Amino acid sequence: MLEGQLSTITPGTPKNELDTPAFLVDTDIMEANIEKMAVYFRDKPAGLRPHMKHHKCPTIARKQIAAGAVGVCCQKLGEAEAMADGGVKDILITYEVLGRAKIQRLVALAQRTNLLVTVDDAGNAGDLSEAAVTAGTTLGILVDVNCGQNRCGVDPGEPAVGLARVVSRSPNLELRGICGYEGHLQAVADREDKTLRARQAMEQVVSTAEAIRREGISCDIVSSGGTGTYNITGDYPGITEVQAGSYVLMDAAYRRVMDDFQVAGTILTTVVSRAATDRAVLDCGMKGISTDQWPPEIVGMPGVQVRSVSDEHLSVNLTDSDSQQLRPGDKVELVSGHNDTTVHLHSHLFALRGGLLEEVWEVEGRGRIR
Ligand SMILES: Cc1ncc(COP(=O)(O)O)c(C=O)c1O
Repeated sequence: MLEGQLSTITPGTPKNELDTPAFLVDTDIMEANIEKMAVYFRDKPAGLRPHMKHHKCPTIARKQIAAGAVGVCCQKLGEAEAMADGGVKDILITYEVLGRAKIQRLVALAQRTNLLVTVDDAGNAGDLSEAAVTAGTTLGILVDVNCGQNRCGVDPGEPAVGLARVVSRSPNLELRGICGYEGHLQAVADREDKTLRARQAMEQVVSTAEAIRREGISCDIVSSGGTGTYNITGDYPGITEVQAGSYVLMDAAYRRVMDDFQVAGTILTTVVSRAATDRAVLDCGMKGISTDQWPPEIVGMPGVQVRSVSDEHLSVNLTDSDSQQLRPGDKVELVSGHNDTTVHLHSHLFALRGGLLEEVWEVEGRGRIR
């Protein structure tokens, strides 16, 4: 039963009758994206473990798992708890978990899911070990390796091997492998350049896994890759899992550099003002669509161009006679520059098929940043 603002919405409602701003999912396109990625990995040694930071929605996660994904990745512990509550059993948290309160939640989550978490610090490994011993559980650990993004992660080679040694000797921690995300390469437009650099990064990750194994420490999982590198990293010998996320809904930033997947997630808005001949204002500002990577793009109206985005207003220039036909109350559809940060702003996704509302999905992982 949908409550409040959603109670009047019924399946079969035409897209343009939905209240706005609304995050729309074209279910046919989304399912085609999920299937295309699943087919790519079906005959590969590597598996697909899609990242939930993109859509944060257990309903979509279950579709990805049904299509063959080996589990999911989450960025935040809260996101992982939301996935577990939504029935997802196999979760890798690609983020360091620190502090007593979170570590207690982490060991509790490990008691109800197959959980893996990344570590890049020996002190943190010690804290996780102590909490796991107290709780009488075991935590699966991946050593986080920096393969060029310069975010989290110890350096490849001896620093990572040394941390693997510490983890493997820590009570109630089980070293399951390593994780090295080449995030700095996802948006590289030139395919040859991206391939070369991604392969160099993967060489560092895979050779680190081999060095860990030479110490007699098992290192089964070697996890990496995103949407921009899925068919480079996913094909690299020794990589066992790929963490692609954005391929499901896509966004304008990714579409600039690749066309393997189509945009399935858009924002429906309403024209709320036409006070000037060459300007319109849409009812979706930064609280409904993110602008961190790339400005929003307008669907199917080349004469409408983004002028400015404020909290709750998106002001557009109307540069031709077609676009100047827009009237207050008309609907305009946008593609977000970055859907990871846009979905996060929405409590529900409106799933359409053939332009009609089919279902409303809750974004249970939204706001779960702790
Ligand atoms: C650690 C990690 N893995 C995987 C991904 C997914 O990448 P993409 O959204 O490019 O598919 C991200 C995205 O930022 C990430 O931070």
